[in-house]
Amino acid sequence: PVLVVDFGAQYAQLIARRVREASVYSEIVAHSITAAEVAEKNPLGIVLSGGPSSVYAEGAPTFDPDIFDLGIPILGICYGFQVMATTLGGEVARTGRSEYGATPVRVTDSGNALLAGQPAEQTAWMSHGDSVSKAPAGFSVLASTSSTPVAAFANDTRRLYGVQWHPEVKHSEFGQNVLENFLHRAAGIPADWNSGNVIAEQVARIQAQVGTGKVICGLSGGVDSAVAAALVHKAIGDQLVCVFVDHGLLRQDERRQVEEDFVKATGVRLVTVDVRERFLTALEGVSDPETKRKIIGREFIRTFEQAQAELIKEAAATNEDPIRFLVQGTLYPDVVESGGGSGTANIKSHHNVGGLPEDLQFELIEPLRTLFKDEVRAIGAELGLPAEIVQRQPFPGPGLGIRIVGSITQDRLDLLRHADAIVRAELSAAGLDREIWQCPVVLLADVRSVGVQGDGRTYGHPIVLRPVSSEDAMTADWTRLPYDLLARISNRITNEVDGVNRVVLDVTSKPPGTIEWE
Ligand code: XMP
Repeated sequence: PVLVVDFGAQYAQLIARRVREASVYSEIVAHSITAAEVAEKNPLGIVLSGGPSSVYAEGAPTFDPDIFDLGIPILGICYGFQVMATTLGGEVARTGRSEYGATPVRVTDSGNALLAGQPAEQTAWMSHGDSVSKAPAGFSVLASTSSTPVAAFANDTRRLYGVQWHPEVKHSEFGQNVLENFLHRAAGIPADWNSGNVIAEQVARIQAQVGTGKVICGLSGGVDSAVAAALVHKAIGDQLVCVFVDHGLLRQDERRQVEEDFVKATGVRLVTVDVRERFLTALEGVSDPETKRKIIGREFIRTFEQAQAELIKEAAATNEDPIRFLVQGTLYPDVVESGGGSGTANIKSHHNVGGLPEDLQFELIEPLRTLFKDEVRAIGAELGLPAEIVQRQPFPGPGLGIRIVGSITQDRLDLLRHADAIVRAELSAAGLDREIWQCPVVLLADVRSVGVQGDGRTYGHPIVLRPVSSEDAMTADWTRLPYDLLARISNRITNEVDGVNRVVLDVTSKPPGTIEWE
């Protein structure tokens, strides 16, 4: 792989994704990794990420200097560029001339592998206070800006390179080209990582892990569990059985998509457990969001355990192997964020429905553990899954249950399901469903407002639209949907959904607002 060293900012995951967009497999590692550990991983190249610190700040993230002597091609970015500079005998100074945002860069040497073929004048994204004032001995300077004499450098003999700007950010005009030059030209790494290879590799791995064992997988209707199940099915066929829990908090058409479209595309053996009544009863009168989450999580696990117990009984009766394996749709960001790959703090601690208790005696199969969401989508498409599933927007495990502000009843669920279906239909008719990250539709069940419809006064409920744009749900901005689209949605909801007389738009970014209302 190519190792992306995480110096603690949000950039490492983005770099790792860009490297993969160049068809090279990447892995994120903590900056505390030692030269011996790096050598053991035998990487084809290393990229040092940006970071929040100054190299002179107290507690600034450190880096084992011996790694520079392993003979592995290294690209330092921003903070990583400065770490490389100071470690190898150059100088980093607090010039007082910081650069933030889009900045004109002058490329003075495009004969070098790193900036080969790049225009002399270009715009790049900067975010730094300190600057490299002197390149280390043996390094030539490749670019500068009006405030930074050394904005990029290279030592071709040692295959060490650095840029002050952020090539991984889309605002850097030729950023992806810098990364590709480093990977392909400077480090000589072939562009041979793609979804076809990933599928073949995972299929082989799953077959080796499972043998003739039996595997169970909970489908949620979301992208991750669907692609994970499809991959496992490709590897082991009918040794896999999928369980789909209909808890009644699903969106319109979701159950049909799993039961018909997904099954048709994959041939998976599916058991649906209909527990809509049970969930309604368990949730009766509950309006506190965290209590709702706990109840939904608990009931979900119980349902899943019962379904699994029945399958085990069934297998025993027919003398089949017992079910020993459980598929989980864990993605790479979850692995990285829970400390599995970096020093970044665990920020997200959502209770994920489908998360299972620790005492379940299963061995886990996690075929998506090394992948980012967009890669999972590509693999799903390659496996022949329908676009409605593969391109589906994120939807929380507790479903519509946390989009009713107030307690949950059958009528409220039906009402919200109807409004949500209208919003989704209009967004996709406008061709915007892939542009936005997600658009929660929220029913303010405990709020009523006066309206006038037809000849009469109404006293109904507001529906909130929460369209957001985001890269990873950690931060988000409200999406500026076209007014005519908003008008159409508002008209349709107030006309078609009984009990709603008002549609409002949430114009809060995250932070301070979360994406969901509960
Ligand atoms: P927030 O509301 O925290 O949401 O900004 C961030 C992302 O997580 C989803 N979300 C959940 N997903 N269980 C889930 O599986 C949950 O309890 C949950 N709460 C929020 C939300 O839809 C968004 O994509």
